[in-house]
Amino acid sequence: MTHSLRIPDLTIPVRPGALRPGGVGPGDAGDPAVNDVDVIRVRGDARLAGTVHVVGAKNSALKLMAAALLAPGRSVITNVPRITDIAIMGEVLRRLGCGIRFDADDPVDPMVVHGGVARSRSVVIDVPEQPGTEADYDLVRRLRASICVLGPLLARLGYVRVAHPGGDAIGSRGLDMHISGLTRMGAEISGEHGFVIASAPHGLHGAEIMLDFPSVGATENLVMAAVLARGASVIDNAAREPEIVDICTMLNQMGARISGAGTSTLHIEGVPGLRPVRHATVGDRIVAGTWAFGAAMTRGDVTVTGVEPGFLEVALDKLVSAGGLVETRGDAFRVRMDDRPKAVDVVTLPYPGFATDLLPMAIGLAAVSDGASLITENIFDGRFMFANEMMRLGADIKTDGHHAVVRGRERLSGAPVRATDIRAGAGLIIAGLCAEGVTEVSHVHHVDRGYPDFAADLRALGVEVEPGTAPEEPDLTI
Ligand code: EPU
Repeated sequence: MTHSLRIPDLTIPVRPGALRPGGVGPGDAGDPAVNDVDVIRVRGDARLAGTVHVVGAKNSALKLMAAALLAPGRSVITNVPRITDIAIMGEVLRRLGCGIRFDADDPVDPMVVHGGVARSRSVVIDVPEQPGTEADYDLVRRLRASICVLGPLLARLGYVRVAHPGGDAIGSRGLDMHISGLTRMGAEISGEHGFVIASAPHGLHGAEIMLDFPSVGATENLVMAAVLARGASVIDNAAREPEIVDICTMLNQMGARISGAGTSTLHIEGVPGLRPVRHATVGDRIVAGTWAFGAAMTRGDVTVTGVEPGFLEVALDKLVSAGGLVETRGDAFRVRMDDRPKAVDVVTLPYPGFATDLLPMAIGLAAVSDGASLITENIFDGRFMFANEMMRLGADIKTDGHHAVVRGRERLSGAPVRATDIRAGAGLIIAGLCAEGVTEVSHVHHVDRGYPDFAADLRALGVEVEPGTAPEEPDLTI
């Protein structure tokens, strides 16, 4: 069956082009701004100062929405960020037969309202007794996280077809651990015409699974399958991210029996059914980390609220090594940098290591630090692709495999650059604040996929930002 894409909630800010195949921005036939791309221009020599509030984590809320599929009835997830990816996940669930409504968070936290628009919402999900069983490619290619409907639908219905998401701008992204884990639980899985097809006509059974790598997505899919499987499961070498703890907390509130969340070993006793739930999304540590690095790079002073600072322990410790002052209290922290940062080495690793999603910010910091930094990426093979854009801003970066040597410069130089993914886009905008003159970052709909109104937050922190459009460079390839 084919569908034409509707954006489920027009009150969610979605830039033109953000929902098109590959998220390539405006330019389809019939679009009035046919040759324009979405841009943000920032003036350099800026300093971030003030307070910014962070709402729920994209990478949690997306999975919490999928987890709601496990129980018929109405689940409500609060503190959900107003970003494009959530709108797409809403559409995935709607096409599976769920009712989806985005409501104001209750109560609305005044900290999350800017210009009369709240950054977070509640999503009300009405899950039918018999949801659909197919997630098609036109949505999955826009939102790789759609793959997380695989586990819950297979567990509940015994059959599911989900389009294979393929790789993306940060690298090749396998599904082998999702597939081998579900196979251990008794599923039969095949690939056909770009779809992953999984069936378990007699239901799933518990299994002992050792992951080759603590994959976030595989851990989530396998937990969501195991909660309704017959008998006990053990997932070893499981991911330990706060978002994993969040989904396990929600599942336990729904009646699941999971222990060990936040450690490398998850024990799950399958139960015959789950009940709907109301759950608040954990704060977004990657958005919080973006502001922390922004404060350090611009020699600013930023207080971030809404996230547990312990989730960023390694990242904040790097900023201290770079010469920053970091204060933490409750669910807030403050980062102040008075002098030019000192170069620090960074190695990305699964949680609690330094998050790969903060790699562009680490490169940005290194690019303006005093000295040379060795940055090592261990999670995604294409994460350094965006380094070429950073070099257009004058950054001195040499990459070799999964290492980059960055020699810091006193100052970068403003230029037009292109956002290739969510985090690269945010990293380039922040780097532009440390450049001389104006930096124009194009294809910023990528940033809207993960940051609710990034431009407004920048303005609130005292920098000059101008969203707009610019002519698309002609494609001269033959
Ligand atoms: N991998 C495999 N086989 C698998 C599963 C993963 O080879 O079966 C590989 C991947 O190819 C990758 C590595 O393992 O090289 C890590 O993948 P993981 O499964 O941990 O990542 P993910 O679930 O696909 C989530 C976040 C990413 C974040 C990573 C790592 C969501 C929606 N995405 O991806 O976030 O970088 O975990 O922390 O939760 C972002 O928000 O911009 C983003 C990319």
